[in-house]
Amino acid sequence: MPLAINKFSNKNDMCRQLSAFIINKLKDVVGQKGFATVVLSGGRTPLNLYRQLLPDLISASLDLDKIYFFFSDERFSKVEEDSNYRLAQDHLLSQANISFDNIFPMISNRSKSITDNRDAYAKTIDSFFINRESEIVFDIVILGIGLDGHTASIFPGDNKILSKDIVRDVYPKNANPPVPRLTLGLETINKSSNIVFVTDSLEKEGIVKKVLENTQDYSYPASLVNKEKSSFYFVAS
Ligand code: 6PG
Repeated sequence: MPLAINKFSNKNDMCRQLSAFIINKLKDVVGQKGFATVVLSGGRTPLNLYRQLLPDLISASLDLDKIYFFFSDERFSKVEEDSNYRLAQDHLLSQANISFDNIFPMISNRSKSITDNRDAYAKTIDSFFINRESEIVFDIVILGIGLDGHTASIFPGDNKILSKDIVRDVYPKNANPPVPRLTLGLETINKSSNIVFVTDSLEKEGIVKKVLENTQDYSYPASLVNKEKSSFYFVAS
């Protein structure tokens, strides 16, 4: 299948088209199986997408009670601003009146250890799909790419990158912020139906091209994600 590459001269056009893609995919999936699952990326790139996705979600003829939101990764940090969940909640989920029953934050109990939260999230995911008599296959996974080629919280130098764990605790040395994190495992991401890479700044054009040119290059973990199921949406010169 040819690579789904969508280049844009500006982020607004990109977000408009990507939002339409997501909405249409959600309509198809909910129509087929009665529910849909979305994995939201971390970082700040999604904020531009949410500005477009929010009105589109609200105006689409979609039963939002049938859409379930998970996260690709989360910082195990006491600082609220670092929270990927908080950004998604403030800029999309709460404004779209998504029920808390349909949102699954990675950190369910900040007073517990990162490994307790890891195990709890893996159980949450497993139970969610078992209850729907389904394998663990997310319908849409939205991912960013770091300048070093990381995605989710799978960073270069990760020596357990091929772990089959649904959720992993990771301690990346070069992450920003440099805090422990939880991340979906690479295998869980690769089992998903539709993976969407999004970058919205020209500074990322080079790394996107490296990821596109390389397959299975551990220097660029994003290149390990199954391109057969991936679409790339990025701003380029
Ligand atoms: C995180 C992310 C990470 C992010 C990239 C891009 O928690 O940091 O999930 O993979 O998507 O670092 O981040 P920006 O969108 O902020 O450039």
